[in-house]
Amino acid sequence: MEERLIETFRWLHRHPELALAEHKTTAYIRSILVESGIRLLDTGLETGLIAEIGADEGPVVALRADIDALPVCEQTGLDYASENPGVMHACGHDFHATAMLGAALLLKAREGEIPGRVKVIFQPAEEVNRGAGMMVATGLLDDVKLFLAGHTYPWYGAGTLGVRPGPVMASADRFFARITGVGCHAGHPELGVDPIPALAAIVTAAQTVVSRRVNPFDSAVVSVTRVAAGNTWNVTPQTAELEGTVRAMTAKTRDDIQRRLEAIVSDTARAFGCEAAFEYERQPDPVINDAEICLRAAEVARELGMTVRECQPSMGSEDFSAYLKIAPGAFFRVGTGGGWDNHHPRFTADPAALMPAARFFAAMAERELKRLAGT
Ligand code: NI
Repeated sequence: MEERLIETFRWLHRHPELALAEHKTTAYIRSILVESGIRLLDTGLETGLIAEIGADEGPVVALRADIDALPVCEQTGLDYASENPGVMHACGHDFHATAMLGAALLLKAREGEIPGRVKVIFQPAEEVNRGAGMMVATGLLDDVKLFLAGHTYPWYGAGTLGVRPGPVMASADRFFARITGVGCHAGHPELGVDPIPALAAIVTAAQTVVSRRVNPFDSAVVSVTRVAAGNTWNVTPQTAELEGTVRAMTAKTRDDIQRRLEAIVSDTARAFGCEAAFEYERQPDPVINDAEICLRAAEVARELGMTVRECQPSMGSEDFSAYLKIAPGAFFRVGTGGGWDNHHPRFTADPAALMPAARFFAAMAERELKRLAGT
């Protein structure tokens, strides 16, 4: 089985596809599932799959992999490097798909002994924060009682599992502000209203949201990542813009930061005689791991001979949080070595980590089904 998984992993790595364009990837995974006699559910979606293993009766748990790649030019030098120029599995979603395929095959071999069903999700478009919502919207996951997923982690070696109860991934929101003044000759500032000092004051004040407003024992990020105003040296522009991101680990902190930013933008603009338009766009919610599931997962991983470590939370985001609105779950860090960060052109995932990950997710799914079924 290991050889088969490595071959699958290499194929997926060679054929990366961007979010919502995962057509070959979907066809390839489908062919392996069908050939193995695994049922597929009709999602009605163009890419991505949901497979199902087990009895018609009993509880349902879900394993989730994502399958999309990134617009990155690969520089790994691997003999199975990307054959799709400018596109790369730089986040290891090829690893996720292969490991969950492995778990599906292991579960299929024990189908008669499983007291319920396992739905294995091969989700498109994680990198653009859309795929999880699309999978949830199919309604095919409404009966799921527990969701499990993992992510490649370059800072642990193969066979190591990072587990952490509570918040593990942040919410990731986008904000935008446009400050409107009155344009004028730069030599006659008294004839206009310059939006640039207002913008500068807003950028400075925004830095105080985390340092002065958020509880020091909580974590959050406010980053202004783009400012734009004017197009020459002797004209005071009419408008100035800024854009950025907010990351938070709890719903309360997130709400609070949104309100503070809105107040800073509108009140500061007014103080400078300008008008402000403010947009705040909510993207994924924080991923909050169920503590009990984490305890049992650590036990299962140790029984399988894996090394278990308490991992750090991340200010990155994951649309896995969309599934956790249906039922509790947990998101783990799967050691895949390599030493280059996710999204780097030299990111690699060690194929030796495939079997431990497949075994862990299969064993965990079966254990949780038995618990839910009371057997
Ligand atoms: Ni990823």
